[in-house]
Amino acid sequence: MESWRKPRPQQPGENAPSIFAVVMRIFSGIQPTGAKTLGNYAGGFRQYVETQERGEAFFCIVDLHSITVEYDPAELRDSTLNLYAMLVATGLDPDRSTIFAQSHVAAHAEAAWLLSAVTSYGQLGRMTQFKEKSERQEFLSAGLFTYPVLMAGDILLYQTDLVPIGDDQRQHLELARDVAERFNTRFGETFRIPEGQYPEVGARVMDLQDPVSKMSTSSPLAAQGVVRMLDEPDTIRRKLRSAVTDSGREVKHDPAEKPGISNLIEIMTVATGESVEEVEARYDGQGYGPFKADVAEAVVELLTPIQKRYRELRGDDRELQRLLAIGAEKARNASEPTLHSMYERMGFVMPASGRFFGAARPKGL
Ligand code: TRP
Repeated sequence: MESWRKPRPQQPGENAPSIFAVVMRIFSGIQPTGAKTLGNYAGGFRQYVETQERGEAFFCIVDLHSITVEYDPAELRDSTLNLYAMLVATGLDPDRSTIFAQSHVAAHAEAAWLLSAVTSYGQLGRMTQFKEKSERQEFLSAGLFTYPVLMAGDILLYQTDLVPIGDDQRQHLELARDVAERFNTRFGETFRIPEGQYPEVGARVMDLQDPVSKMSTSSPLAAQGVVRMLDEPDTIRRKLRSAVTDSGREVKHDPAEKPGISNLIEIMTVATGESVEEVEARYDGQGYGPFKADVAEAVVELLTPIQKRYRELRGDDRELQRLLAIGAEKARNASEPTLHSMYERMGFVMPASGRFFGAARPKGL
């Protein structure tokens, strides 16, 4: 039997998913910073809820990743709690899934250091995201360079089978797989090799003012083409009313010729769960005007209950603190056996008292 499957003493009050489980392990990491958008919902939040039904799922708020570029500490604290509340408001169930902050589980920082020994410097330098982001930084941190190693650790610590992520993360997942394989070859079978799950083509919401570019979290807050998850109903209506459309008047899905209307059709499918064909049929012969107004109402209807749940939870720091602590405990228990194997196989001496794994506890929210 592989040693990461070795039984370990049950902790008092432990409710972590069992390491023996044969169910699929799912892991995703989400950056806390930035006001989340309808695009994040379509390509992220919505997927998470769906994947949580398919196995044992871990959703990690990757606060340690957020310090690799210029950032504001007060904002990081705030956005970590904001994201937790948003994950639950959009349908993740903290009883069913493990939702936690990366910095609460020390194994992540430890794994990143250990894995840096089996990560190729050259490969890190070839990461497109590093090259792009580094051009935009006045101060270029070493952390931005080693970012993918931390991400590899996130994934590998949980013996992950499936990683739901955006297309822009393909290269990072490839690197995680390479790191896992190199470790397994050099030190013995330790990690499962994860697969990526990418959003379907078309599951990308575009900017309302510039429908050939993705709706981006990092656009200026005032950007009229970006619908934020927490926008007021009237703001949503105004943004959709001023969405650019194309010449013609037919509500027809044709991204090459009619990017504006195609985007609105896709937004409608996200909001109502209908198919593209159903939306087209419903607006056959009706023109753009009534269609745009209805898309706005559908988005308001989608977001209103999410915003209500979000505000309830975000207004209750004690409850957030309690839930984060439970998530951290479950994540600590689930990652501990793998971290233990890593140390052991790499030749580290175990202290007689045992290693004090993942001691960090959330405090002082
Ligand atoms: N780098 C990812 C992003 O920017 C976030 C991330 C960090 C992640 N660790 C992860 C995603 C582990 C999936 C799995 O989107």
